[in-house]
Amino acid sequence: MLIKIARPGDLHESDVTPESIYLSRRRFMGGMVGLGAGLALSGQTRAASDYADVPEGDAPAWLKEKIDATRWQAVTPSDPEQDRVAPFDDASGYNNFYEFGSGKSDPARHAGSLETQPWSVVVDGEVNNGGRLALEDLARPSQFEERIYRLRCVEAWSMVIPWLGIPLAEVIRRAEPTSKARYVRFETLVDPEQMPGQRSSFALIDWPYVEGLRLDEAMHPLTLLALGMYGRELPNQNGAPLRLVVPWKYGFKSIKSIVRISLVAEQPVNSWQRIAPDEYGFYANVNPEVDHPRWSQATERRLPNSLFNPNTIDTRMFNGYADDVAGLYAGLDLRKHY
Ligand code: MTE
Repeated sequence: MLIKIARPGDLHESDVTPESIYLSRRRFMGGMVGLGAGLALSGQTRAASDYADVPEGDAPAWLKEKIDATRWQAVTPSDPEQDRVAPFDDASGYNNFYEFGSGKSDPARHAGSLETQPWSVVVDGEVNNGGRLALEDLARPSQFEERIYRLRCVEAWSMVIPWLGIPLAEVIRRAEPTSKARYVRFETLVDPEQMPGQRSSFALIDWPYVEGLRLDEAMHPLTLLALGMYGRELPNQNGAPLRLVVPWKYGFKSIKSIVRISLVAEQPVNSWQRIAPDEYGFYANVNPEVDHPRWSQATERRLPNSLFNPNTIDTRMFNGYADDVAGLYAGLDLRKHY
């Protein structure tokens, strides 16, 4: 995430990942995606073993079982050339997770020691069936699905990442929202002892990191609670053990290491909106026609790239998911509600 005080040139300087990283990357699943058109459900069967190149994690037994029983490639992106899955090393080495620092390599460097087992999530607010749930109990009733999504950061870079998880809608339904519930508010863990970014006196964020969705956005079938990626559990720097993934919105909506999901009546104020409301809104739908005040959103750098191959592509409305989500915003002025 770019902060308001950044120098004008910082966007490009800080976001160009050294070419050497990409030259040394493993060739990874180049032809895997793009099997179906749009969001076609694929009948292809794959298994976690297809990610043989990816280092094994340390998932507890219940999570390994859920991952083994995943419905693979439940959603794949549409363009086989453009939408190649990023190498695992890029997806787990170039991150935004301010709790562990503001540099792109800080999360991979500092998040390893975050204690993610056991983990519990409080589901509360306007619900009839709330409470504190062990992660296992929150996830167990749902079938894991692999969702290969484009992730478009508001900073104008993007990657294609194969997530594993469960529809947020199922968790919300089980909580039995009351008629007053209109939004969902999410919170990340606060633990300065484990999260060095929360100890920093330079941090702009008023912890916890908060995000929110309208209830219909949260119930949309594309909205995923991810517990894994690349056929294994999430690396800590990607938001272990539980994160949100909302593929048609800028990446900052996809809050990491969630400890609280609250159904609420009022629209929550999300962390970046609180810091710079004229730059980051509540909706944050990917929109090439509405520029960030300090840079264009018309194009993006699809990672991995290099100095010699910047891999700049056109940004698509709703990140390419318009057929599925544009209806949610009928009649809404997207310039005003950025
Ligand atoms: N969640 C928390 N708790 N803290 C953060 O700093 N950064 C957001 C989002 N979720 C962030 C967060 C931003 S700006 C982006 S682009 C994505 O995480 C990046 O996800 P990734 O590192 O898995 O690619």
